[in-house]
Amino acid sequence: MNTNLSSSAPSQLETDCLVVVVLDQSEKDQSEKGQGKKDKPAVTVESTDAAVREAAKDVISSGEVTAKTFETTLVHRPTGLKAKRLLLLGGGKAKTFSSAELRKLSGTAVRTLKSKSIRSFAFVVPETAVPSSPGVRAIVEGAFVGNFDPGYYKSDRSEKDQRIDALTIVLQGNAQGDAKALESSMQVGRIVAESQNFTRDLVNEPSNRMTPTMMAERAKKMAAEVGLNCETYGADKIKQLKMGAFWGVAQGSDEPPALIVLRYDPVGAPDKIHLGLVGKAVTFDTGGISIKPADGMEKMKYDMAGGATMIGAMRAIALLKPKVKVTAVICATENMPSGKAQKPGDVQIAMSGKSIEIINTDAEGRLVLADGLSYARQLGCTHLVDAATLTGAVVVALGYVNAGIFASDDQMYERFANANKQAGEKMWRLPLDDEYKETLKSNIADMVNAGSRWGGAIFAAMFLKEFAEDTPWIHLDIAGTAWMEEAKPWIAKGPSGIALRSLVEFVKGWES
Ligand code: BES
Ligand code: MN
Ligand code: ZN
Repeated sequence: MNTNLSSSAPSQLETDCLVVVVLDQSEKDQSEKGQGKKDKPAVTVESTDAAVREAAKDVISSGEVTAKTFETTLVHRPTGLKAKRLLLLGGGKAKTFSSAELRKLSGTAVRTLKSKSIRSFAFVVPETAVPSSPGVRAIVEGAFVGNFDPGYYKSDRSEKDQRIDALTIVLQGNAQGDAKALESSMQVGRIVAESQNFTRDLVNEPSNRMTPTMMAERAKKMAAEVGLNCETYGADKIKQLKMGAFWGVAQGSDEPPALIVLRYDPVGAPDKIHLGLVGKAVTFDTGGISIKPADGMEKMKYDMAGGATMIGAMRAIALLKPKVKVTAVICATENMPSGKAQKPGDVQIAMSGKSIEIINTDAEGRLVLADGLSYARQLGCTHLVDAATLTGAVVVALGYVNAGIFASDDQMYERFANANKQAGEKMWRLPLDDEYKETLKSNIADMVNAGSRWGGAIFAAMFLKEFAEDTPWIHLDIAGTAWMEEAKPWIAKGPSGIALRSLVEFVKGWES
């Protein structure tokens, strides 16, 4: 998709569709009951161009437009505009409107228009509601995310070929003065969103087309393109490093595992900070000997989303060039039952020297991450973040809306939470109190890999904490959010690319 900035008057733009945000300025929540008379929505058209507001006047006074979030109203041959169509996009209450909503609206515009075989459009930045620079970035990011189509293997290409080719972002007000900054916002948005789609690409592939080896190849290819250092290792290195927990999972599969290491080490970076990004990349999780039920097992192809997120984040980092050292460690393997597979009751010795009693072979993600975290520490990382589709329990706790965040260090958490807010991704912090440590106890080894059902996401995080040791660490459990169970107005059903934008923003925040 081509993107460009324009500062011509929206009414003068020749485009297949001019997209303008409408907001509800009324104070009261329309759904609130028992508050006396409800306020009627007071709809405003977010353009300083009087001709645009005039063109929308009739349809608004008809009462058809309420500005409810994601409401779309399409006007053909709008009077006084050079555009062929005018799309009014509901943004909800003006009071709570921010760049996070704008990002989703942009995705909604793309998805609405591409389904009508429209190939290009112009989006007017709602500058009175969101400042132009974050506004431009949000529109670009949302548009790229909305343009992603997961139907890779459909033989009827016509559906797949419905994509938006060109997006014009229209700035009104004081835009011209800051042309350079706005141009850069546009480029940053493109890099971040294309990296998010790169991750979604990897996650979308089924396990026969995204084995650990293939994932390592994709990482290598990407690294060569963006100038990153990438090393990939197989079983020999995993054994040589004494990664007994990682190997315990990998040993059951005929498909060789891969340890993927991506390094970004820019000149001028402070040498006291070295960020480590560790990803779970189980390319297929059958559960192993503690096998999963057949129902829904096909979805376990996305159990490599954490690793794919780290690879995509490194792509964005390499292109954005923040002055901070970052290393990504991705542990890729299948989790299979076989004659060689580990069995419940087996004891594995992790790279750190800690012994683990395997209670459930389906609790494999924490095993591969345990050694990934140890390895990142050995490589000198001073701060660790891991991402993993780790537990069904986090889905019980937070549903499909929020990802779970765990943090061993409040300062690091604050940094991450800030980045997360900027990125407009939903995450919620869960606790790591010492009391939970009790449940890790094993009769025979230092710890078990699985405990009771209750607080399962916390148990998994407490387990990982044993391997992050005293290094400040954040764990993201994205089991419920890495895959969209249904399409939303702004995003297709399928891989979401969650956490990548927050991670990139977090890394940028360390720039000195
Ligand atoms: N990959 C799963 C977690 C998962 C569940 C991801 C749902 C995406 C959607 C993980 O390896 C797993 O199987 N976890 C078990 C742990 C249990 C055996 C202690 C779980 O959550 O049931
Ligand atoms: Mn599992
Ligand atoms: Zn898993």
